[in-house]
Amino acid sequence: MRLISKSLENTEEIAKDFVEKLSFGVHENACVVGLYGDLGSGKTTFTKSVAKILGAKENITSPTFVIEKIYNISHLFFTKLIHIDAYRLESAEELQKLSWAETLANAKNLILIEWPENVLEILPENHMKINFKFVSENEREIEI
Ligand SMILES: Nc1ncnc2c1ncn2[C@@H]1O[C@H](COP(=O)(O)OP(=O)(O)OP(=O)(O)O)[C@@H](O)[C@H]1O
Ligand SMILES: [Mg+2]
Repeated sequence: MRLISKSLENTEEIAKDFVEKLSFGVHENACVVGLYGDLGSGKTTFTKSVAKILGAKENITSPTFVIEKIYNISHLFFTKLIHIDAYRLESAEELQKLSWAETLANAKNLILIEWPENVLEILPENHMKINFKFVSENEREIEI
């Protein structure tokens, strides 16, 4: 489904929809969502909305300088939102050092990852994908 967000509020509405549709089925591993798209296309903005909607209390910032940020969230199935920015990662090894296997094995983790291209080899092949595109100054296409 291709949606056009014309404002930050629109992006938040799309994030709300995403949260509502998160699969509640029985799953053994973490839910991994790859956020694809260019610089400034709205990946962090979307993630911040998801964190806010899920009641993250911690200060939500771009994880650019920390690779990974973990938020406690209120959700029926997920207890932690893990926001990863793989932009600076040169290899998947760097993520593996951050106890990636453990993170992935925990079905209570919701993982949103920016620049998934950089670490594709260690993402589940069938991970959920969202594509972001810059349309104009205030418009972003979000394909979900
Ligand atoms: N409709 C919109 N939806 C989301 N962001 C928007 C929208 N209109 C303007 N923006 C602005 O676009 C910018 C998006 O930046 P953001 O950090 O979310 O991008 P990003 O995809 O995470 O980039 P990067 O790859 O550098 O991490 C923000 O400054 C935001 O305010
Ligand atoms: Mg970002």
